[in-house]
Amino acid sequence: MAQQCIVLVFGATGDLAKKKLIPALANLHAKGHLHKGTRILAVSRRPLTDAQYHKELLPIKDKKVWASFLKRVSYHQLDFSNRSDYLALKGRLAKMQAAGIDTSRRVFHLATLPESFPTIIEQLSKECIAYRAPKEGWHRVVFEKPFGHDLSSAHGLNTEITRLFDENQVYRIDHYLGKELVQNLLVLRFTNPLFDRSWNSQYVSHVTIRLYEQVSVEGRGEYYDKAGALRDMVQNHMLQLLALTAMEMPATTDAHDIHYEKVKVLKTVEVDPKQIVLGQYTAGKINRKSVTDYRKEEGVRKGSTTETYAAVKLHVNNRRWHGVPFYLSTGKALKEGYAEITITFKEAACLLFCGADSKLAPNKLTIRIQPHEGVKLQFNIKELLSDFSATPHEMDYHYDAEFRMNTPEAYERLLSDVIKGDRTLFTSWGEVEYSWRITDALRKARVPVQQYPAGSTGPDEAKRFLPD
Ligand code: BG6
Repeated sequence: MAQQCIVLVFGATGDLAKKKLIPALANLHAKGHLHKGTRILAVSRRPLTDAQYHKELLPIKDKKVWASFLKRVSYHQLDFSNRSDYLALKGRLAKMQAAGIDTSRRVFHLATLPESFPTIIEQLSKECIAYRAPKEGWHRVVFEKPFGHDLSSAHGLNTEITRLFDENQVYRIDHYLGKELVQNLLVLRFTNPLFDRSWNSQYVSHVTIRLYEQVSVEGRGEYYDKAGALRDMVQNHMLQLLALTAMEMPATTDAHDIHYEKVKVLKTVEVDPKQIVLGQYTAGKINRKSVTDYRKEEGVRKGSTTETYAAVKLHVNNRRWHGVPFYLSTGKALKEGYAEITITFKEAACLLFCGADSKLAPNKLTIRIQPHEGVKLQFNIKELLSDFSATPHEMDYHYDAEFRMNTPEAYERLLSDVIKGDRTLFTSWGEVEYSWRITDALRKARVPVQQYPAGSTGPDEAKRFLPD
């Protein structure tokens, strides 16, 4: 059973809290995965009553369950830089304690703009609301991305955090790690000798990691224009997927052992400044809906050259992967939205069954992260009624088809892991540090940004650059 605790969500009126965090907590409540004494304190600048805050939330379908969930949720107004507001928060926690609600186990989820992180943790620590080694219970701090905007700023932020907290109190979120199929990567590989034994440069031709989105920047122009696809998607989600795909088998499934193996991979990643394609979307149509030119989006600077698309070819320079390219591509406002990893194996030597009628293709293993989470394997088989002509076919496994339910939202898994104190699916400082080294090197290449119409598959140059 989950431990009782208080979850303090900072930035509670923001999109992330309202669209992802509170709904994830509501789902955990609906599934009976929250302790009955657990309370949620939504903390933000705006003056709101509990009832007004509740009205801003998106209710879950079951009205009764939603009403019982809301009994856990209260609102607390706080200006992040105002000391007396922190004293009031401290007073409120003391009052809850006096009223019989145990407040000794605290989760501080910082879903604010990253600029506010240092002020918030400094104040929380100064007023002894969150601190290292509390006498009773525990204090855990969750940091949303972006964790810095380059290596040096990430370093500065981390120094600030580790001055106030122990690493085991720190939870750096990468929500892709909470996705079911991402966790499945290690199970799929290490429990199937068929894949595990051929997971190396002797058998693998190349690896592609694609995170494609149909959505445009939609109201996030101000943040996105300063970030771009390399910082927004490659530094975190994509390099995490690369590390999980390429890592050695960890000694155990403990957080420390998994983090250690991921860092080893990220340390060996090599960037070639000539193997980068960047793009920016112009006006277009997706599913018959018009999409505004990126440069005309609110918050985007005039004449901006921020990339909304990035494709890069990286090498993992170690014994296992020597000579195997890893192609990473991601973009917004694209024709199709999906996330998947494909391992393309080397083609069979053409000794038999490769006559004129045969259409031999390489084996391909695709891990479909979303939508329709599952695994697909391409293999060659004899064409029906033919004389030994080979043709490629696919075996396709869908989780949703088998379980007739959607896999849980990433945040449900991540929030319940914070409450359990399991840091396995969170990123260690070493991972963040080496991912920034790679991203800074990609950005330093200063590759010109090509345009592509919204609703297309990306810039033309990327089509030539990426394998099928
Ligand atoms: C976020 C990025 O980290 O991931 C967004 O900031 C992006 O720009 C999102 O849209 C994609 O996540 P998902 O889970 O919708 O694939």
